[in-house]
Amino acid sequence: MIVAVNGVERAVDPKDEGAPLLEWLRERLGLTGAKNGCGIGRCGACTVLVDDKPTLACRTKVSEVAGKAVKTIEGMEDADGTLHPIQRAFVEHGAIQCGFCTPGMVLRAHGFLLKNPAPSREAIRKAISPNLCRCTGYQQIIDAIEAASPFYPPERGKRD
Ligand code: FES
Ligand code: FES
Repeated sequence: MIVAVNGVERAVDPKDEGAPLLEWLRERLGLTGAKNGCGIGRCGACTVLVDDKPTLACRTKVSEVAGKAVKTIEGMEDADGTLHPIQRAFVEHGAIQCGFCTPGMVLRAHGFLLKNPAPSREAIRKAISPNLCRCTGYQQIIDAIEAASPFYPPERGKRD
């Protein structure tokens, strides 16, 4: 079984096929950006994209993503370390405090903006509602997502 993770095809050891995707990413691949906040689908800290769809990695088995494309926060920046516009917007708008929710929040926002490039603030608020942040009060996160929206769809912002 093969899973494409951040553009690289990864073979899955058969004994890992029934494991949670979050565990496989963190413990087998060393991709620790996705966080284990609750492990039961309630906080969004483990959000990754599966074929561009925000997905809770703690509630998804590795076998469910066979042949699919998984994107984690590690796959968002350019090879030279240049941040993706949505990451830059989080930094510039102070949308990060402790940072624990941030990888999941960025992936949630990225997946949303890929499908909804000119959203209202209310639509942004609703889109990020599965992801909890105990620090920021959400306003700066919504500001950041709104500020990044002109970079979507990607060709408009000259960035994939
Ligand atoms: S760790 Fe997956 S939703 Fe909380
Ligand atoms: S920045 Fe701390 S939980 Fe969101």
